[in-house]
Amino acid sequence: MMNRSTDFIPFARPCLGEEEETAVLRVMRGGWLTTATESAAFEREFALAAGAEHAIAVNSATAGLHLALEAVGVGPDDRVAMSPYTFTACAEVVRYLGADPLFVDIDPRTLTICPQALRRALEGAAAEARPVRAIMPVHVAGLRCDMQTITALAAEHGAVVVEDAAHCVPHLAGRRCNSAQGVVSVYSFYATKPITTGEGGMAVTDDAPLADRMRTMRLHGIDRDAWERYRATSPAWQYDVVAAGFKYNLPDLQAAIGRVQLGRARELLLHRARIAATYRRSLADVSSLMLPPDSADHSHHLFIVRIRPRTLSISRDRVIELLARDGIGASVHYRPLHLMSYYRDRYGLKPGDFPLSLEAYEGALSLPLYAGLTQEQIGRVIGSLRAICSQHHRVESR
Ligand SMILES: Cc1ncc(COP(=O)(O)O)c(C=O)c1O
Repeated sequence: MMNRSTDFIPFARPCLGEEEETAVLRVMRGGWLTTATESAAFEREFALAAGAEHAIAVNSATAGLHLALEAVGVGPDDRVAMSPYTFTACAEVVRYLGADPLFVDIDPRTLTICPQALRRALEGAAAEARPVRAIMPVHVAGLRCDMQTITALAAEHGAVVVEDAAHCVPHLAGRRCNSAQGVVSVYSFYATKPITTGEGGMAVTDDAPLADRMRTMRLHGIDRDAWERYRATSPAWQYDVVAAGFKYNLPDLQAAIGRVQLGRARELLLHRARIAATYRRSLADVSSLMLPPDSADHSHHLFIVRIRPRTLSISRDRVIELLARDGIGASVHYRPLHLMSYYRDRYGLKPGDFPLSLEAYEGALSLPLYAGLTQEQIGRVIGSLRAICSQHHRVESR
């Protein structure tokens, strides 16, 4: 029996070291824990890395997406197009604003929003005289969506693009996932993400008025931030509230970790890319598996393999159980939002309404992928998955 505490390979694990520890200690000893100079430095460094004019640090990507949609003017009864093959954060922020998600099926190869289906949805929405206000493409697993087509469609239909770059890092081999395409792009630093602050996010944009609005709304709608009030010669209590804002600022404790992680982003990305390449090479001949598409423009946040329909005698869930029995953590990205009771019931959706998302979900499983995986652990993941697929291969599909 495997010793779970020592041998278990978790699905995700942050890669933090002495540099991050030192950065946290520096902030702890500095006497100011919340948003101030570290957060401002993190914003400057991130904007540079993303090739954007402005970066607004927030306490989650969910907060960043909410701020972005609010800033571009999404409001009650508006619609925001997105694929259901994503995390609930994307659709929930639309609901915060009283607007509705308009789900559009995926390209089954990339798992990202299908541009042709998006075109049909935008045309349908225009015909109903209820146009789409924004499009939220998600770079699922870190694989870039077809942003050229999506931005052209958005321009044609008068919609703005708010990019969900939660799975991305700005260092994409010289390319960037930035505001050159989306009017705002939002990154996540959640604990499993390629660079992490535990919880955190960053909204980047080239649009100064949008950046100003997001900065104000991230801190209660106050016209002066807390650090500026603390240091300034005019009294700290003298400020105005210009809107009913939110409490979405990123504390310096976390920003300090983020700065170190950003500095290591290339190194971390390279590790992930190497592991993804090893998985790809070593699983290429397993006929029951569909491997994710490769691209130079990829952050390798997730390695989502898919079990080809009817090739195994066991379910995807059972495969995950058998991996766990071998001491390997796996996960599923994603159970599509139209299957979730809130969205299903609110919009009267059926599983078959988005057949490609449904089929992808039924076969999808995400393998461990993070910089700290050892060669031995990578070998164990490959060996276990190969053995499971071989033992449970359906005879008629051979
Ligand atoms: C695609 C996507 N968007 C948004 C989010 C929300 O990120 P956060 O946890 O930083 O709010 C996630 C989180 O996992 C995600 O996967």
